[in-house]
Amino acid sequence: MKHILIITYILCFFCFACKKDKTAPVVPPVVNLCDSINPVSFINDIDPILNANNCYACHSSIAPIFSDYSSVFDWRDPILKSIQHDPSFRPMPENGSKLPDSLINKVQCWIESGAPNN
Ligand code: HEC
Repeated sequence: MKHILIITYILCFFCFACKKDKTAPVVPPVVNLCDSINPVSFINDIDPILNANNCYACHSSIAPIFSDYSSVFDWRDPILKSIQHDPSFRPMPENGSKLPDSLINKVQCWIESGAPNN
């Protein structure tokens, strides 16, 4: 009888010991890239990127034609895919090197936030 009590005591001890060891699962925090980049402004960010990389210079006469907010808005998805060098689009800028990720991310985040005219 004494043995059973001791064994029960030991089992209980381990039960509680195990319970105590349970910690919340470690879930990596979901980092949304655009949270740290938005808000992106069309006038202060996107327009200067397209201007400085000669996008407007060529695309005032070469299709797709874009030169201002409404035309960039209409072409926003092909513009993003082409500067991301997505294999199903012609890589842009034509004959130029790929834009830095920081600029590509700005274009992406501007589009993801609804491509506002801001
Ligand atoms: C030196 C001239 C030149 C520059 C600079 C240039 N493009 Fe282009 N772009 C072209 C030509 C040429 C085409 C192909 C037109 C065609 O197929 O009729 C093109 C095509 C495109 C297309 C359509 C791609 C597709 O696969 O449908 C997009 C979008 C585009 N350019 C965006 C841009 C952006 C954004 C920039 C600036 C980062 C840029 N372009 C800079 C000449 C240029």
